[in-house]
Amino acid sequence: MNFFQHGVASGDPLQDRVILWTRVTTAEPSEVQLEWEVAEDLSFQRIVCSGVTFAKIEDDHSVHVDAEGLNPGCHYFYRFHARGETSVTGRTKTLPVAGVGHLRFAQVSCSKFNAGFFNAYARIAERDDLDFLLHLGDYIYETANIPPSGQTAGAEIGRPFEPLHECKTLADYRMRYSQYRRDPDAQAMHAALPIIATVDDHEFADGAWRGGADVHEEDNDGPWAERLKVCFRVRWEWLPIRHPDPADTQRVYRSVQFGGLADLFLINTRTYRDQPVPAPEMNAPERTELGPEQREWLFREFEESKSRWQILGNPSVLSTTWRENISEEIKLPLLKTKLIAADGNGPDYDQWDGYPAEREQLLNLFRKHLGSTVVLSGDIHVGMVCEVEENPFEEKRDVVAVEFINSSITSQNLDDKMKWGYRTDSLKYEQAILREFPHVKWCDFDSHGFNIVDVTEERVQVEYWGVDTVTRRSKGVSLNSTWVVEHGTPKLLRIR
Ligand SMILES: [Fe+2]
Repeated sequence: MNFFQHGVASGDPLQDRVILWTRVTTAEPSEVQLEWEVAEDLSFQRIVCSGVTFAKIEDDHSVHVDAEGLNPGCHYFYRFHARGETSVTGRTKTLPVAGVGHLRFAQVSCSKFNAGFFNAYARIAERDDLDFLLHLGDYIYETANIPPSGQTAGAEIGRPFEPLHECKTLADYRMRYSQYRRDPDAQAMHAALPIIATVDDHEFADGAWRGGADVHEEDNDGPWAERLKVCFRVRWEWLPIRHPDPADTQRVYRSVQFGGLADLFLINTRTYRDQPVPAPEMNAPERTELGPEQREWLFREFEESKSRWQILGNPSVLSTTWRENISEEIKLPLLKTKLIAADGNGPDYDQWDGYPAEREQLLNLFRKHLGSTVVLSGDIHVGMVCEVEENPFEEKRDVVAVEFINSSITSQNLDDKMKWGYRTDSLKYEQAILREFPHVKWCDFDSHGFNIVDVTEERVQVEYWGVDTVTRRSKGVSLNSTWVVEHGTPKLLRIR
């Protein structure tokens, strides 16, 4: 009997506590008692706290321990015991106190199980220089193994989704998360460092908005609100997360403070937003991506932030990927990567481009922290470095922030979709995009991997790391580009 088939995980660290997670695999229709312990050392000689907890049936036998009384900015080791079995040992880290001068973390999104192996997670797990992993969403994909025509099919690599059909029920989503958490590279990543995560649409359903999703049909699939309830429940069961508001178990938006060096604002751009619609309706001034409560929270806390840096953890690309009179030359890569509308004649209204009025307000908010706002984004599966501005195509530039968009862990991008060689035909399209989009300073439409974000008082440095393949397990990894923004001015410097 192996009780701990899904490994261990930790997440949502604070200065004095962190969530520790495991799950017990058992056919017994009853709760299972576990012991847990946290130590300063790998050999568990210096135990700092320990206790007893229960894996409950109603939580799908998952276990969350909020281990308290820890010291700030410290590494800890933890493990679980049940009926004579011991889990693997996990390593975690608490948040720093005031005066910390350095922060370093991984930025990722879009881990699609049937599209590739999680080599990027494995490379992150091997490092010992990271404080945490920031997951910007699409931690799972709910989609069917053979998806509807609007979505990209998986790769032929022997990793079909479980279940094969689109997740819709409690049992479906649980099975999907269970598959993800049996992956050895996902397990290694979770055992190596704590995660801080937000959500994108595929934690729920493709194209999710507050009243539904592209693929959700109320007649067949039941009320959207019920499906959302299931999604949030299973996400909590399977991830090491602490509800930011225990009274509202669907709340994800929150801020994380790093000792005055940086405040990280995590937003949810999916389940509160108005339905995505094309122009001209999308231009209506009252349309919202954030929803009233989240917007009020974000605008208040962001403006009041006293930290050296303000970092937005943003699951949907903020900078525009559309321009009027777009050339035929860049239509193909933008269409294939869904960065413009499917008919090629307008912006992709599923991203921030579809909520221009609220984006303008957000950019005005950034002006209050001009020179210290950094946007970290996921969702689009391609790496991009952008200057954030309202009208990038006007002569006079008005940059209010910088945006670093990570590529995907595995989800397909241009070379995968076009089935041409890695770093071959995509290069000329990337050059054309750089020519036509003055605010895009660098892009990579082929790589999969992760960003390493390194923060000091003086600057934020972002490295773009790519794995050599996702079609098999492989150790190859390379540093593809490095960018710096110095404190005080939203100006990008390329280091590499
Ligand atoms: Fe994605």
